[in-house]
Amino acid sequence: MTEKECFRCKLVTYDEIVEWTTDLAKKIRACNCKPTVIVGLTRGGWVPARLLCDLLGVKKLYAVKTEHWGVTANPNGKALLTQELNVDIEKEEVLLVDDITDTGESMSIAKAHLQDMGPEVLKCAALLHITHSKFLPDFYSVEVPEDNWAWFIFPWNRNEDLRTLIPKTLYEEKGVADIQKAFREQFQMNIPLEDVNITLGDLEAAGKVKRSGEKWTRA
Ligand code: ADE
Repeated sequence: MTEKECFRCKLVTYDEIVEWTTDLAKKIRACNCKPTVIVGLTRGGWVPARLLCDLLGVKKLYAVKTEHWGVTANPNGKALLTQELNVDIEKEEVLLVDDITDTGESMSIAKAHLQDMGPEVLKCAALLHITHSKFLPDFYSVEVPEDNWAWFIFPWNRNEDLRTLIPKTLYEEKGVADIQKAFREQFQMNIPLEDVNITLGDLEAAGKVKRSGEKWTRA
């Protein structure tokens, strides 16, 4: 039997995303910031960045990419900038946007990169800010105390996160109902049986899990 990982997951809804970006836009306006460019940190920052463009009337939306959390809730490894910005931002008022500052590494690396490109103003915003982050964004909507840390399952990442989390319930072979039960116990979250079945099908096709009769195991 392999190790049984347990940590709290919290499912985020699109309604919460709209609520948090609307709140961020209010905070950004209140400090008289008028970004002319928004840069979304790939991939979590894309949806919030696009919504902020709409809320703040910004037409220029660009992206940079950092890679750190290779898989769901795996805090190992350093963040790396893997896609630079390839447009001129001198004379621009830039807002860098991500979904969450957790270690704060991605935001800090991306900010340093943009700063080197000589923008007029550079500010950073995240929907959620975990208090242990070594990077403090200029704007955030929700402060999450570090002892309330959770893996936030953002709506644009739900299937990917389930594909990472469900195999963690297979530390021993299980049927579908027991996978659902183990998911609740390990990650404090309910998932519909239909989603367990869809995810197992995807994982089976990818060669990551296998079925024998009614039971599933890691491949
Ligand atoms: N990315 C980095 N930290 C995260 C967290 N706690 N939840 C979701 N995505 C993250």
